[in-house]
Amino acid sequence: MGRLIVAKTIDINIKIDVFNSLNELSETEKLLCIKAKEILNNAYAPYSNFKVGAALLLENGEIITGTNQENIAYPSGTCAERTAIFYASTQFPGITIKAIAVTAKSESSIFTINKPVSPCGACRQVIAEYEQKQNQAIKIFMIGHNDTVYQCQSINDLLPLMFNK
Ligand code: THU
Repeated sequence: MGRLIVAKTIDINIKIDVFNSLNELSETEKLLCIKAKEILNNAYAPYSNFKVGAALLLENGEIITGTNQENIAYPSGTCAERTAIFYASTQFPGITIKAIAVTAKSESSIFTINKPVSPCGACRQVIAEYEQKQNQAIKIFMIGHNDTVYQCQSINDLLPLMFNK
């Protein structure tokens, strides 16, 4: 048996900016993060006890929020990010989404939050679709319990080698 030879290795770099406080963000971005934190109390998460809040900043300055909504038939529920994005796309079709902020609160022993909360794979794929649709990057803010914030400039940093058109 011949040895397989690696032709080359692709090294992918992603960039995450870390802030230690919401005060280091611009006023608009800070407000976006605060809206995500406030709305998570509206989550319906009786099965996971993991409440997630998302807030979108639209190009007209409007902020749209969403929470996770669970169901006894688990896959019927949806994440906070997708609740917000699909609502925005329904109410403001074609409008550009400038940024999304995500945060969570856990009352479960399964989920502990020791790092800023980042979107699940399915939500990353959805964010990627809208980035491509609007042909403009969507900034992503991931907020942790003590207001540590991870910032990415685009979904490219969270979903390298994404499936797209
Ligand atoms: N969840 C979100 O809302 N967003 C994510 O990006 C990760 C997961 C929700 C889904 C489910 O209701 C709960 O968190 C636990 O997985």
